[in-house]
Amino acid sequence: MATPTEGKLRIAATGDLHVMEDSVAPYREMFTEMSNAADVLVLCGDLTNFGKVREAEILAEDIRACSVPVLGVLGNHDFESGLQDEVCAILHGAGMTLLGEQAHEIDGVGFAGAKGFMGGYGRGELAPFGEPLAKLFVDEAMNEARKLENQLRTLRTERSVAVLHYSPIVGTIEGEPEAIYQYLGSQRLCDPIDRFDHVKAVVHGHAHHGTYEGRTPRGTPVYNVAQFVVKPLFGRPYALIEV
Ligand SMILES: [Fe+2]
Ligand SMILES: [Fe+2]
Repeated sequence: MATPTEGKLRIAATGDLHVMEDSVAPYREMFTEMSNAADVLVLCGDLTNFGKVREAEILAEDIRACSVPVLGVLGNHDFESGLQDEVCAILHGAGMTLLGEQAHEIDGVGFAGAKGFMGGYGRGELAPFGEPLAKLFVDEAMNEARKLENQLRTLRTERSVAVLHYSPIVGTIEGEPEAIYQYLGSQRLCDPIDRFDHVKAVVHGHAHHGTYEGRTPRGTPVYNVAQFVVKPLFGRPYALIEV
């Protein structure tokens, strides 16, 4: 384990836990290890496999074993059963801070987060044109970007971290089939990130076969911390990032 740098906050980040109803304390050991290695745990969505109450309860028990603050966002899988509010309440009850509306501060480092949404990048980005449903689809990505922007705007910290489930850039989804890029994130999530100097890192999940590290157009590092991306790289299913 590398020695922590003076004055830096150590963040242990992972995503795509996909806890199932028959799991038995699936992340207890990992969370204990992460708590020992970092000052804060960040969970980047798809915390449950189908967004079921029982799945959330199983994860909540493991979150209770964490000895440092836990914060994060939900992913698309956590919405599958339409019980996302219940899932949030259960995880919140276990001490996790769900980002979405309000930014959070830990030891002078700000955290702003949203699930994000799909929609694509560059030439492949879906435009808000034509049928009302197409416009609604694009609106959802814009709303998520707005949530992130509003939180980033309230932060007065010199350093902050943006937490997402979907990717704001193409760089960290490379490795996935190009045909599904537009379902892995939206470039619209990147605009708020590059608008604020204090954003020092972005973490997201969702692209299980993506790339660990990329950069926004302005050069801010973006990390895909989906456990399936991180594990082959570091031999452990979480990333350690200093901010
Ligand atoms: Fe996932
Ligand atoms: Fe996902």
